[in-house]
Amino acid sequence: MTTVAVVTGAGQGIGRAIARRLCGDGFAVALVDLNAGGLAETAEELGRDGAQTLQVQADLTEIGNIARAIDQVGEAWGRIDALVNNAGREVTRPFLETTEADWDAMLTLNLRTVFFATQLAARAMIAGGVHGRIVNIASIAGRSGRADQAAYGAAKAGVISVTRSAALALAARGITVNAVCPGVVDTAMTQRIHDIRSKMAGISPEESLRRMIARIPLGRIASPDDVARAVAFFCSPQAEYVTGQALNVCGGIEMD
Ligand SMILES: NC(=O)c1ccc[n+]([C@@H]2O[C@H](COP(=O)([O-])OP(=O)(O)OC[C@H]3O[C@@H](n4cnc5c(N)ncnc54)[C@H](O)[C@@H]3O)[C@@H](O)[C@H]2O)c1
Repeated sequence: MTTVAVVTGAGQGIGRAIARRLCGDGFAVALVDLNAGGLAETAEELGRDGAQTLQVQADLTEIGNIARAIDQVGEAWGRIDALVNNAGREVTRPFLETTEADWDAMLTLNLRTVFFATQLAARAMIAGGVHGRIVNIASIAGRSGRADQAAYGAAKAGVISVTRSAALALAARGITVNAVCPGVVDTAMTQRIHDIRSKMAGISPEESLRRMIARIPLGRIASPDDVARAVAFFCSPQAEYVTGQALNVCGGIEMD
């Protein structure tokens, strides 16, 4: 029997690494992303290793599109065993300059989408009699304050809260729900953040990142694979008794 995972934001970065890892662990993986080009690249890369993938191009800020994506996976493979809510965006802007549009964009994709994708995937799991796994990619920005990422941090704190509520609501159905909170990961998103922070601080992007790394106890930023390994754990039989947890994968920056 094929076990099926859905990974959102699989067109690049952390989502691509999660898709690669879950394929390696034997899942057929539905790759969902707004960016069709990124999806095709991920599918091509994973296909070279013989992985079974399905490309679903969708703007997940529309709830109807989330529902269609979940349906498409069900029609293709007949079941969903795991959902990884990874698609996300950030806005890095000083607190006093944050706009209504920034707030709405952050809370829509990073939180509302996570809630409804969790609800829709859980319904599909229940209908299929599947004891599934849901993993939400939050952030250590949801653990403490961020002077220049207030809306992003609020959304990610909300993801941790939704993870706990969903874990309680779905436990009796045999579905576990956990979150991974990455620190600083080597992706395009981190590049963008340090491009912006460096301009605000009047330093180079390299110096901005160097100062960040100086604060990481393990002395380096994370690779996307570091995050993917934690996701794979939550999706594995080893995590069968773990639910409602939020695991920091951050080299020790955040300890609560
Ligand atoms: N990079 C980091 O340091 C870091 C740290 C903590 C948490 N995170 C979280 O990890 C997740 C992945 O981050 P990343 O660094 O790989 O980012 P990224 O920007 O490299 O990739 C994000 C992916 O999400 C997709 N996406 C964006 N909007 C979408 C939409 N409306 N519908 C569907 N797909 C959409 C993009 O096309 C892209 O492929 C995000 O939730 C992010 O908040 C990242």
